[in-house]
Amino acid sequence: WEVPTTSENENILSPIREAAHHLRTTDIPVAFPTETVYGLGADATRSAAVKGIYAAKGRPSDNPLIVHVCDLSMLRSFISPSFSSAGDEEDPIPAIYHPLITRFWPGPLTILLPNPSPSLLAPEVTAGLPTFGCRMPASALARSLIKLANAPLAAPSANASTKPSPTAAQHVLDDLRGRIALILDGGSCSVGVESTVVDGLCSPPVVLRPGGVSLEEIRECKGWEGVEKAYKDQAEVGGKTAPRAPGMKYKHYSPKARVVLYEAEGGRREVPKADVREAVEAAGEEEGKGNVKSVAVIRTGRWPVAGGLRSQGLDDVAAKDSGDVAETGFAVREGQWLDEDGTTVLARLLEIDLGNDVKGVAHGLFAALRELDRRGADVIFVEGVSDGDDIAAAVMNRLRKAASDIRI
Ligand code: TXA
Ligand code: MG
Repeated sequence: WEVPTTSENENILSPIREAAHHLRTTDIPVAFPTETVYGLGADATRSAAVKGIYAAKGRPSDNPLIVHVCDLSMLRSFISPSFSSAGDEEDPIPAIYHPLITRFWPGPLTILLPNPSPSLLAPEVTAGLPTFGCRMPASALARSLIKLANAPLAAPSANASTKPSPTAAQHVLDDLRGRIALILDGGSCSVGVESTVVDGLCSPPVVLRPGGVSLEEIRECKGWEGVEKAYKDQAEVGGKTAPRAPGMKYKHYSPKARVVLYEAEGGRREVPKADVREAVEAAGEEEGKGNVKSVAVIRTGRWPVAGGLRSQGLDDVAAKDSGDVAETGFAVREGQWLDEDGTTVLARLLEIDLGNDVKGVAHGLFAALRELDRRGADVIFVEGVSDGDDIAAAVMNRLRKAASDIRI
């Protein structure tokens, strides 16, 4: 794969060249866009550079990182330096992955590969595991950066540890300002949730993290018909489920606000009135009573949208659009939850409708959580989507991690 170098895109290429130079010559990571989320990249072959990632994110170094390559020849050249595609040597990429690579690369799929010994990868990349995760991002900007840096890039998501992953350059800036020197701005990420992580080195092969490529798509590939899920979500709705103890906070994908998730299978049509009251009271206790609390709702298609409606369980909700967020494609509406008498303001209402297309929900989800934090939400009620074998699995997986309460 070659970086497209025409005179028209010279303007685009010069910041990428600068970022690549920075990656080669310093140990401070560079944030860059991919089609899933923004990554925080460093030369995966240099320990000092990889340590710089952990320092910037404020994350312990016991988590393995995904290695990003621009093409297959880069991947082959560092897992098997002697390999030449011209000869009849066996491909160092295990055969089980060939159908996946053909179909999904470049794209939001990470595969686990054996880490060769001796390895060119810095030991900090694999966190002591005998395997490493690898993906070829679809973003041409990301691949140009990797190509020009002339090294595979180790990159976790470019958020501060525990925050929702960044899907716009502004999110990276909000989290890592002062900790990194450079963010390549490629606009908002098209997929919006991280890559699917699969392990084909075991039998049957497994999905370790649901993401941008769905289970149903993976199952269509030769050798992957029997793929199993090897991740656990907090709520399993099919059988009888114990809801998570309220208040138990998972420090992952979390905005500052408390997140309350309603499983789609619960069949609710709206946030129960009692839940809003409880949330308003809980927020009041935290900060001292008196001031109006902010209660937010993220809708995903089934719950009715407010707009001067008298339909919210709480008796009157007046809402008006408070402007589009151009980058994310959703509008934030603001209004008030009024008490039964219609005069007392119980809480300020913030509302985002992500629509009923689950790809759109995935695209806007992290940005919505961040936007509601920015506007001071105390609690965010989220309408869950039906957990299927499509990208909904990734959406619900992230939401169950972000939520402190799950209601069925
Ligand atoms: O879409 C994505 O994958 C983004 C963009 C930047 O590429 N990256 C990302 O990286 O989400 P991070 O570090 O936030 O998540 C990496 C995931 C973790 O769930 C980690 O446990 C898993 O990949 N992982 C990486 N190497 C692994 C290994 N050798 N074995 C098992 N899991 C691994
Ligand atoms: Mg992450």
